[in-house]
Amino acid sequence: MKNIFNAQWIKSPVPAYDCEFSFSKEFTSLKQVVSATLEATAFGVYFAEINGERVGNQIFAPGWTTYRKRLQVETYDVTAMIKAQNKIVLNVATGWKASRHFGRYCGNDSLGYKEIAALCALTIEYADGEKRIITTGGDWKCEKGKNIYTEIYNGYIYNPAYVDSNPVQAVVFERNKNNLIDRQGEKILEQERLEAKEIIITPKGETVIDFGQNLTGYVEFKIKGNKGERAVISHAEVLDAEGNFYTDNLRSAKAQAVFICDGEEHIHKAQHNFFGFRYIRLENWSDEVKKENFTAIVVHSEMKRTGYFECSDKRVNQLFSNIIWGQKGNFLDVPTDCPQRDERLGWTGDAQVFVKTASYNYDVEKFFIKWLADLRAEQTGWGTIPHVIPCVFDPDDGSSAAWADAVTICPWQIYLTYANKELLKESLESMKKYLEFIDEHSYDGIWCNSWHFGDWLNLDGSSPEDCSKGTDKNLIATAYYIYSTEILMKAMALLGEDTAEYAAKREKSIAAFRREYMKNGRITPEYATQTACVLAVHFGISDDIAETAKQLNELVCECGHLKTGFVGTPYLLHALSDNGYTETAYSLLLREEYPSWLFSVKMGATTIWEHWDGMREDGSMWSTSMNSFNHYAYGSVADWLYGDAAGIKIDESKPAFEHIIFAPLTDGRLTYVKAAIESRRGLVKSEWKTENGKTTYTFTVPEGATATVILGGKSTEIGSGVTEMTE
Ligand code: BGC
Repeated sequence: MKNIFNAQWIKSPVPAYDCEFSFSKEFTSLKQVVSATLEATAFGVYFAEINGERVGNQIFAPGWTTYRKRLQVETYDVTAMIKAQNKIVLNVATGWKASRHFGRYCGNDSLGYKEIAALCALTIEYADGEKRIITTGGDWKCEKGKNIYTEIYNGYIYNPAYVDSNPVQAVVFERNKNNLIDRQGEKILEQERLEAKEIIITPKGETVIDFGQNLTGYVEFKIKGNKGERAVISHAEVLDAEGNFYTDNLRSAKAQAVFICDGEEHIHKAQHNFFGFRYIRLENWSDEVKKENFTAIVVHSEMKRTGYFECSDKRVNQLFSNIIWGQKGNFLDVPTDCPQRDERLGWTGDAQVFVKTASYNYDVEKFFIKWLADLRAEQTGWGTIPHVIPCVFDPDDGSSAAWADAVTICPWQIYLTYANKELLKESLESMKKYLEFIDEHSYDGIWCNSWHFGDWLNLDGSSPEDCSKGTDKNLIATAYYIYSTEILMKAMALLGEDTAEYAAKREKSIAAFRREYMKNGRITPEYATQTACVLAVHFGISDDIAETAKQLNELVCECGHLKTGFVGTPYLLHALSDNGYTETAYSLLLREEYPSWLFSVKMGATTIWEHWDGMREDGSMWSTSMNSFNHYAYGSVADWLYGDAAGIKIDESKPAFEHIIFAPLTDGRLTYVKAAIESRRGLVKSEWKTENGKTTYTFTVPEGATATVILGGKSTEIGSGVTEMTE
């Protein structure tokens, strides 16, 4: 990226929102071209065309970052596209940057500039040594595009016959370019195509197409229709109890694709929009509805699949598939909570809960490097981390425990999975600043002066009116402070820094936690919830881990099910099985009545739900206020499937699978389990199979790595290659 700094930002002379603009320039190029490079970015989302051909295969460029500080520029090789007569076009639409919808959250300006605008430089080098640079400027033409309306949540209206009858000269405006950066994240691409599974006529008489999978993307469709007709595609994740199309959970997002027919046949798909859906409903559709005319296109950030899991229980395999689809659906440039309703935001809590699973399922190193750079860029002067990154709320909202801790947990996990020390180094100051903020809001070791989301959506007291009620919030906050301090200390030690100061603070908070919330190794009755026990056990806070784990096991067995929310769920099975309660952990995993992971599977889910009872047995819904059917947070159970059911663990002292610990946990209700992780070193695999009371284990260790197998309390060292053992 270099010549783009010579370009000028251009926009339409008429302020315009929620639509597409095409900025263009024609030029001749008569000499032999040696190379041609396009550097481009936009306020909004864009795609470029040269002589009618699309440049590159990325969608939704320049992605979503903290635009005020970091706006990504893409560099494309366009050598083969330059002809004698040329037209270069940048089609720019609302996207994340220019969406007025975000104003609801943040008022008009916190995303920076809100109008659609373009910036690019085309550099052509000729055989005779001449170099020509064509940049955006006042000589570019500006016209309205065929997406006559487009907005991230509402969707779009596309009119193929639309031609702006009044193209104008673009207007140049001043804007500091010090926020421009080369693309840092993964490209966002079309990834898969799914055929329509079934055409349904609902009891209400709606024409609905089922793609059989809840997904994020858009539909490619063939349409002719009658001239002037507005054909409407609506998107939904589920059908309601009666089998009708259900969109109440999208809240204010219209999530529609509207196509204005011109009497000609077209094959069309969205250019600037995405939706979260399994079903579409067709309205004003005068063509005969045939399955072959509709294909769902799955879109997400480029990431290599690395993790696989399978076992003898088909329901668990479906759960694992739902987790994978949850990741596909929510890894669209930033880790989002959900892809469908009027939210789709980079919630920090959700990301930290899922990062371990995510990093086993797919190679997400680059994805997180980019998002964490935005997280650091959004950190406030007093150390708080906004709830969503990029921030579209008031950045001064404060920091919630377990959400803001993404600042420590995510870089640490990326270090463990990929041995990325550089990221730890870059993150260190932000971790320290965050912990200082907590110190200032603590009294005698207890973090007690802040607002928190609590154990969000737990079953100990949360309700649609207050999802944060349940486990004591100061208890959660103090536990996370202790955990984040431990992570910071490990990172500092690795980078050669003295950790004494933090060790003392951590000890003080541990003592305070025990004093305030525990007695004789147990959480005191007024604070005793599953989540409280989970944190005291999993974060190593209790002075009698065995006793607290026993209490947790009792709490689970008394009611027979989990009660945890966003905070307790990710560690629940670990806290049990790490302390001898493997059978209880498996019982929770294999339970299919509400509340459980398999309840949604039983209900036909193809992605992870936000709520344990998003949809009830009778088909009624939790609430319309906040009910996503594609929310990956509870999918974090996959790290237990990899790490405990199959038993593949990273050794923190030799990360990225340089040394592996295999400690699989069997259960009589399963006859086999197998998991594989395609690590940077090669394939790591663990399988076990039980036949006639005998269990056979097979471990695969990549070249150059070593492993310790722990079976029945006995450790055995193994080297690379395949090792079989029986028990
Ligand atoms: C989001 C969550 C998020 C939460 C914060 C919700 O609206 O969808 O996943 O973490 O708010 O409490």
